[in-house]
Amino acid sequence: MSLNIKWHDTQVSHAQRVAQKNQRPCIIWFTGLSGAGKSTLANAVDFELYTRSHHTYVLDGDNIRHGLNKDLSFSDEDRVENIRRIGEASKLFVDAGLIVLSAFISPFRQDRDMVRHLVEKRQFVEVYVATPIEVCEDRDPKGLYKRARNGEIKHFTGIDSPYEAPESPEIKIDTSKYSLEDAKNQVISYLEMQGYIPKNPL
Ligand code: ADX
Repeated sequence: MSLNIKWHDTQVSHAQRVAQKNQRPCIIWFTGLSGAGKSTLANAVDFELYTRSHHTYVLDGDNIRHGLNKDLSFSDEDRVENIRRIGEASKLFVDAGLIVLSAFISPFRQDRDMVRHLVEKRQFVEVYVATPIEVCEDRDPKGLYKRARNGEIKHFTGIDSPYEAPESPEIKIDTSKYSLEDAKNQVISYLEMQGYIPKNPL
């Protein structure tokens, strides 16, 4: 980093942005294997929050790799950089007062913990989407497991690249055991109980 760069404070403070939005901003970080249901669950939670007039945004592995991170591969080194950039982007959303839903395989514990420590203590909610690999492989929504088994895709998480499960996530959900509605409600209830959002008045 250049020594000639100084942090520039803004006129509108973080506290003012938060006060405007009737929510406690945070990163909801969905981690798990490809096909585990991270994006589906993140989108369902996002829609529920949106219908309750909350201010949210979804960051998703496949989408971010089309733009911001299109220069990155699936080598260990590039996955680390992928998560570092997403972490910094997520932090900006939190600073803006939003609830950001970040859905990435994020296979390495150290990288997820790095993001956790980028923000304040209660601004990071880790959701381990703990769907077993057999189920993910059976779903194979993009046909990628089949191609990885055939050797057409290298470094595929769970096949020839590791996944380190979270040790103490805030929430753990195996999507093969619950309906999408139930899984969504588990996340929403957590947010209500921990005071990130008010309880649904209905
Ligand atoms: S991460 O490991 O760096 O966190 P990320 O969440 O951004 O991964 O992207 C994962 C998505 O990329 C998967 O859902 C899948 O569609 C696609 N993909 C392509 N190649 C691979 C691979 N080798 N391993 C895992 N996912 C891959």
